[in-house]
Amino acid sequence: MRKKIIAANWKMHMTQSESEAFITTFLREIGDLDEVEIVIVPPFTAIPKVTELLTQTQNIKVGAQNMHWERSGAFTGEISPAMLRELFVRYVVLGHSERRALFGETDEIVNRKVRAAHVEQLRPIVCVGETLEQREKGNVEKILARQLRGSLADVEAKELHETVIAYEPIWAIGTGKTASSGQAQEAHAFIRQTLREMSDDATAEKIRIQYGGSVKPDNARELMSQPDIDGALVGGASLDPRSFAQIVQAGAPNEGL
Ligand code: 13P
Repeated sequence: MRKKIIAANWKMHMTQSESEAFITTFLREIGDLDEVEIVIVPPFTAIPKVTELLTQTQNIKVGAQNMHWERSGAFTGEISPAMLRELFVRYVVLGHSERRALFGETDEIVNRKVRAAHVEQLRPIVCVGETLEQREKGNVEKILARQLRGSLADVEAKELHETVIAYEPIWAIGTGKTASSGQAQEAHAFIRQTLREMSDDATAEKIRIQYGGSVKPDNARELMSQPDIDGALVGGASLDPRSFAQIVQAGAPNEGL
């Protein structure tokens, strides 16, 4: 049984003081829920504050939104895996479609980062997903296979166990248009099949695949009840502690029964 993993990708939102207000309310809303693994992914500047506020909790981890692949060096403006480790960061989102589209990240760059993350024992959340045009042309599987094979090249099975995949159809990000649970499940099943071909059955069964793209409290339960949807990567709705808490609760259907 794969434990669901639900992450709040705050993108370029939340100052330190706003993060503090969020975490205080969120912890109150969530109580001692531990059926779901929760990851808060703040901008770099809020990471130390969020980590400090979460020291008493076991079940909520901190992630980063990006990193460079080198340990250190002349890379002005970049942050290294070792720097994140020192701040107790456990996860790192890599290859988000905004990074691919706005900052020129290719599968090869994402792959370097994924391998560097594993060296530093950071767990990558690797994002894949198609544009609307690619979907309309019937190219969803081709795109997903290419992104997976490129981004995860030379990653060993034992590292794949520690890798999370996020399926984020680009047309569903920030648009209010969610993929239907059927569309999402179909893509997730294809991703798992591709992972099986790239490694083995046991590995593919272990890897958690999140759905991302306009996840809200009212669609989260239906999406996460699909057999291959193992959680959510939430943007807009994760900026409000109550709505993010409701999404987390939707992933823990037995909680409170
Ligand atoms: P929204 O939830 O705002 O659509 O963003 C999804 C996303 O990009 C999460 O990484």
